[in-house]
Amino acid sequence: MEAHTPPEPVLETAIRIDSHLDGTHERSLADDVLDGLTRPFKELPPKHFYDARGAELFDRICELPEYYPTRAERSILEQNADELAQLTAAAELVELGSGTAAKTRVLLDALHGAGTLQRYVPVDVTESMVRDCAAELTGEYPGLRVHGVIGDFERHLDQVPPAVGPRIVAFLGGTIGNFPPGSRRRVLREISHLLGPQDYLLMGTDLVKDPEILQAAYDDAQGVTAEFNRNVLRVLNRELDADFEPDDFDHVALFDAEHEWIEMRLRARREHTTYVGDLDLPVHFDAGEEMRTEISAKFTVERLEGDLLAAGLELVRWFTDPDDLFALTLSRIASDAASAPDG
Ligand code: SAH
Ligand code: AVI
Repeated sequence: MEAHTPPEPVLETAIRIDSHLDGTHERSLADDVLDGLTRPFKELPPKHFYDARGAELFDRICELPEYYPTRAERSILEQNADELAQLTAAAELVELGSGTAAKTRVLLDALHGAGTLQRYVPVDVTESMVRDCAAELTGEYPGLRVHGVIGDFERHLDQVPPAVGPRIVAFLGGTIGNFPPGSRRRVLREISHLLGPQDYLLMGTDLVKDPEILQAAYDDAQGVTAEFNRNVLRVLNRELDADFEPDDFDHVALFDAEHEWIEMRLRARREHTTYVGDLDLPVHFDAGEEMRTEISAKFTVERLEGDLLAAGLELVRWFTDPDDLFALTLSRIASDAASAPDG
């Protein structure tokens, strides 16, 4: 008779982290630099700001008196988290561009308090952010499982694990505004594929307002945003063996009234040529030449509804702060999109 071996106990570990960046992130940076720095109007996508130093500078931006979005969004969350928890009964919170998940705790508190929360899935390109917040949150919320995804939400959304129950996908901070209109709708459509019929997208968007308030938020008196902007050059120096001198560039923040977005640019103080070693690429700058490093689109309810609709989503709730600075919106798969083909 065979000896009976008792089954191994299945241990649900509280933390699982998957990384999808091995080598591919560097390739994407190289592709973006080759594409963006050989155009007549030079441009770099904003996702490359966020190495460890960039993430730290972003945290400091969130504390600045001029940078209202973080405080406004937090206050909206505080006002409405219980209602959101009741309405969604979410077992899972997936967060795209999760960062330090500072504001997320307001939502996690409400879902934990409602007794529905089982798992948090932070998705971010910055490895240290995902690892640190997984360790912190499992300590703060007994019984919470964290499945971190270190990856690019433009390329790795298919790596988000299947839902464990009703799900909220959170995309906070106004990060959707960092995409130009066409890409914005493409990203939203890809996000919609994470949603089932009982799931919701909870998204933060900054609102159109007095250009002076906007301008100040992106050109603060202490120069933290300027340092954040120049940080992308340090990333290129380190990752691609480039020889940018960050002090050769001025920080520029301007409100484009036609498109209703803020643009951050870096303006060359003098004519010079830098060299990107890994690409064997000389890059010439005229004196005063500007390179775009970020757009940050500002929204109206109409713009947001249009973008959601184009992605097959419908607006369920619209929450703002008392000063109408920022909006938090809850949306879901549009009832007439459930059967429609992708487009
Ligand atoms: N959600 C936080 C952080 C916003 S900052 C808040 O509201 O304060 C933007 C975050 O998105 C950073 O943590 C950055 O690392 C991440 N991020 C930017 N582009 C990304 C991309 N393409 N894929 C994954 N994460 C990205
Ligand atoms: C992350 N993102 C929404 C910020 C924004 O406001 O567009 C990034 C930022 N850029 C300058 N300051 C903050």
